[in-house]
Parts: sequence; structure tokens; C-alpha cells
Amino acid sequence: MTGLLPDALLRLPHRQEVPFARLTTLGLGGLCHWLFEPSTEAEAALFVRTCHQAGLRYRVLGGGSNLVVLGDIQEPVLRLRLKEPVIHEGGNLTAPASHGHIVLADKAAELGLSGLEWASGIPGSLGGAIRMNAGAHGGEWVQVLDRYRFLTPEGEVVEKRPEPGEFTYRRSWFGPSHIVLSATAALAPSDSTAIRRTMAQFQQRREGSQPKGVRNAGCIFKNPPGLSAGRLIDEAGLKGLRVGEAEVSSLHANFLVNRGHAHPQDFAELMAQVRERVKAVHGVELDTEVEIWGAGQD
Ligand code: FAD
Ligand code: EPU
Repeated sequence: MTGLLPDALLRLPHRQEVPFARLTTLGLGGLCHWLFEPSTEAEAALFVRTCHQAGLRYRVLGGGSNLVVLGDIQEPVLRLRLKEPVIHEGGNLTAPASHGHIVLADKAAELGLSGLEWASGIPGSLGGAIRMNAGAHGGEWVQVLDRYRFLTPEGEVVEKRPEPGEFTYRRSWFGPSHIVLSATAALAPSDSTAIRRTMAQFQQRREGSQPKGVRNAGCIFKNPPGLSAGRLIDEAGLKGLRVGEAEVSSLHANFLVNRGHAHPQDFAELMAQVRERVKAVHGVELDTEVEIWGAGQD
């Protein structure tokens, strides 16, 4: 593919052959052949327009905390590195999509803005969180999202308010070539100490129930309606199940962790075994919550 990328792309900031182990929290193998890292919206738009004109498929990467990468990725990958500041106007907080999600929740607390307490334990970027409609402890992005800006697959910038049905449980309406540029949360002025107290309670709950200090991508499967994927996997007796260095966490069964140097095939095999056993024991088909890239999975 090297010789096939248009010159206009190659003039943008980029790196080659970056291991996904460094780009994702799960840390599986696989190489990102082309990683483009625009630091302005104009550069991001140029990237998209150039790919569109050349008929090139590309992928969008945020903090890599919801990704299971199973192989090398040949297509250009875009990771925003926007430098725009966070803007605080009344109860509204606007940030660029590449802003750290946990840092943003912390900023809201510092400013005495309530509404993002639930977000404080969710890693990755704001863009990834909007795309996934990330949520925890009864909160999710759609509840506080006032408006968002994004690039269309043709490279046009659009600003929009969320409409019913656009953001559902861990999903959004965006296609793979849409790029979230920024988002505005509508928050409520409150007391910083009270906000931080709630955050600490959520954090304590998380620390008691989710693995720490071992590489993972959060919950691997979505909760089926009215059920808990973690409980289903646990009740199927799968905690501690291992394929190579890929393992079902003994603390939370919906976390499949990389104990060190898990091979992508081992991870894929572990996911398949978990699904199979849960289907056999409970008759329930688990649907992945994480995004899977590579090895013909996408
Ligand atoms: P990535 O993993 O990089 O990408 C995820 C998807 O978003 C991909 O499809 C990617 O193409 C797309 N994307 C990324 N950036 C953009 C952009 N700018 N524009 C358009 N699309 C984009 N999630 C929860 O919802 N709740 C939790 O409680 C939670 N806990 C977690 C705990 C741990 C320890 C870990 C590792 C993960 C957890 N997650 C949780 C999963 C993950 O953190 C979230 O889904 C997060 O919002 C993903 O953001 P990201 O930037 O890392 O996205
Ligand atoms: N449970 C078990 N065994 C386990 C894990 C859980 O029996 O191994 C039981 C728990 O005891 C509890 C129920 O299952 O009764 C639900 O568990 P938990 O409260 O841990 O929540 P969850 O539904 O497993 C969801 C999100 C998490 C989010 C937490 C906290 C999904 C798939 N998971 O987990 O999000 O952090 O709630 O709000 O929706 C993520 O999306 O990556 C993620 C980590």
C-alpha cells in the first residue's frame, strides 16, 4: 500500500509501523501501518477529503480503550491530536474530541459542574466516548450531550444537537468514516466537593468489581436486555478460563484480560469459547461491546 497513498496525505503528520500494543489499552499485537495524527481540524478535514477523493477506506482511533485489534491494519488510521482548549460557558463545557475523557470529567468537577461524575472511571478520548455513547453507574453521554461537531465522510464539518434514537446503549448513528471533532456537555452548576464525593463512591465501586493493573478493554460483551453479561459468564463457570495469556478475569467475568503478551488469536479464541459456553449454558447469544479490527473480523 506504501506507494499508493496520495501525496496530500503524506504531507500530513504521520508515523508508520506503530504497534497496536502501544495504541490500545488491551495491548494485543498487530501493526498500524499508517497512523495520521492531525493537530488541527483543517488537517483532519484534508485527510478525510483526500481519502474520499482517492476512494480510500480509513479508520478512526481514539484512546484505543474499546478496541480489540486482531491483526495488522493496512488502511490509514486517523488519531486526532487537536489542540483546541476546553471552553466553559455557563453550564456548558465544550472540548475537542481528542481530549482525555477522565481528565474532562475531572475538569467538570474542578469547575463545579455536575453531570459527568459517572464518566470519571472511563478511559479513552471524548470522541470515542461520544461514538460509543459511553456510560456507567446509570449515566451515559446522551443524557448530557448538548451538541456535537463532526466531519462527514466527504470532509464537511457539521454541528448538530442529538436527536432521539441517535445514541443508544453503547452505540451511535455514526458510520465508520464519520469523525467526531468536539462535543458540548450541558451540566448543572454544583458544589465541587459534592461532585468529587460522588466520583469517589463510583471509583470505589469500580475498584471493588473491575480488574486493575492488567491490560484490558473494559467489558467485552454488551449486557443482553435485562441481563448481565458478566453474571452469565460467571455462572457458566468461566472465571479464570485461559487461552495462552488471554484470560477471563476472576474479578469481573465480562473483562477478558491480557496477562502480558496475549496473542491476538488466543484472545479471539477465548472470546469464541466464552460465547459458545454462555450459549450452551444459558441459551443466550452475547453481542460484542468492543470494536474488533483486523483478521477479517470487520
Ligand atoms: P477507541 O477505543 O479508540 O475507539 C472506539 C470506537 O470509537 C471505534 O469505533 C473508533 O473508530 C471510534 N472513535 C474513536 N474516536 C473517534 C472520533 N473522534 N470520532 C469518531 N469515532 C471515533 N466504557 C463504558 O461505556 N463504560 C465503562 O464503564 C467503561 N469502563 C472501562 C474501563 C476500562 C478499564 C477500560 C479499558 C475501558 C472501559 N470502557 C468503558 C470502554 C472504553 O473506555 C469506552 O468505550 C471509551 O469511550 C472508548 O473511547 P476511546 O477513545 O478509547 O475509543
Ligand atoms: N456479576 C457477577 N459476576 C461477575 C460480574 C458481575 O455475578 O463476574 C454481577 C454483579 O454482581 C451484579 C451484576 O452482575 O449483580 C452487574 O455487574 P456490574 O455492576 O459490575 O455491572 P455490569 O453490568 O457488569 C456495567 C457496564 C460497565 C460499567 C458498569 C458500572 C456493560 C457491558 N458494562 O457493567 O461498563 O462500568 O456497569 O456502571 O454495560 C464497559 O462498557 O466497558 C464497562 C466496563
